Amino acid sequence: MTSEGIGKASGKIILMGEHSVVYGEPAIAFPFIGTQVIAKVHETDENFLSSAYHHGLLATVPVSLINIQQLTARLQQELQTSNFHLTIESTIPPERGMGSSAAVAVAITRAFFDWKKMILTKDSLLEYVDFAEQIAHGNPSGIDAAATSDTQPIFFKRDTERLSFPLNIDAYLLVADTGILGQTRAAVASVANLFENNPQETKQVMQKLGNLTKKAKQAIMDNQPELLGRLMTLAQAELKALTVSTPSLDHYIDLVLSQGALGAKLTGGGRGGCFLVLTKTREQAEKIAAILLEENIKNTWIQGLGVYQYV
Ligand code: PMV
Repeated sequence: MTSEGIGKASGKIILMGEHSVVYGEPAIAFPFIGTQVIAKVHETDENFLSSAYHHGLLATVPVSLINIQQLTARLQQELQTSNFHLTIESTIPPERGMGSSAAVAVAITRAFFDWKKMILTKDSLLEYVDFAEQIAHGNPSGIDAAATSDTQPIFFKRDTERLSFPLNIDAYLLVADTGILGQTRAAVASVANLFENNPQETKQVMQKLGNLTKKAKQAIMDNQPELLGRLMTLAQAELKALTVSTPSLDHYIDLVLSQGALGAKLTGGGRGGCFLVLTKTREQAEKIAAILLEENIKNTWIQGLGVYQYV
């Protein structure tokens, strides 16, 4: 066994298809390389975690980190490691729809396999991350695991499709963080409730979201930024119907649309977290970012889609 194992992963952005992806509809996502998590593991006397949310014995982690406790217990047992000290450093804002929990699970799994010098297949990685995400989220579609562990944008369908999908379109994506913690677990659970109480109507909303994602894929392939923007805003209306938006997200989305954005929608689980704004030019994205920062938005990132270099 080497003295230290290291694993990395990035955050992710779901461009289209959150929530409906849980019910078998397609989604488009990409690894957000501006944000990253690094996990490091080495031998020690007792299992110990150093992270922004816990510095102490793994046995005493808060409930919010049980996914990490369970994942590492499984890795320790299956890879037959000694006791370990795990360090997690992350620039992915947690609970903002950027896939932080999945990215942490990807980085930890990679770190343990690196430590043991064992080959980690993609399927095995996704299986470990799914195990951790079941604990964190209840019913994960797997898109977070797939996107945070990849280097390319993907077109994804639960259990059936995971295709690389070049996101080349002449547009800019502004990612804005409301600073409000999203509630993926609660949002996924309340959508499941909607399904139970109102199956017909909820199914129709899911199908609409799925169709919007398929049209968005075509709009990207045809390099039609205006159409993509309109589809994003239409998806936001359906996400609102699923009760995963909030008055604050709605307010920001109306604001950016009034400033000439091509489209806007929440991203990830919703109920807070981040939203996306599509613009034609970088200047417009910068102008809208400046307005949002005046309006209490916590952080913004601008991503050129036509010139995106995924590494
Ligand atoms: O909030 P995040 O980053 O975990 O994204 C959740 C995406 C959902 O579609 C709402 C759930 C899922 O597992 O696909």
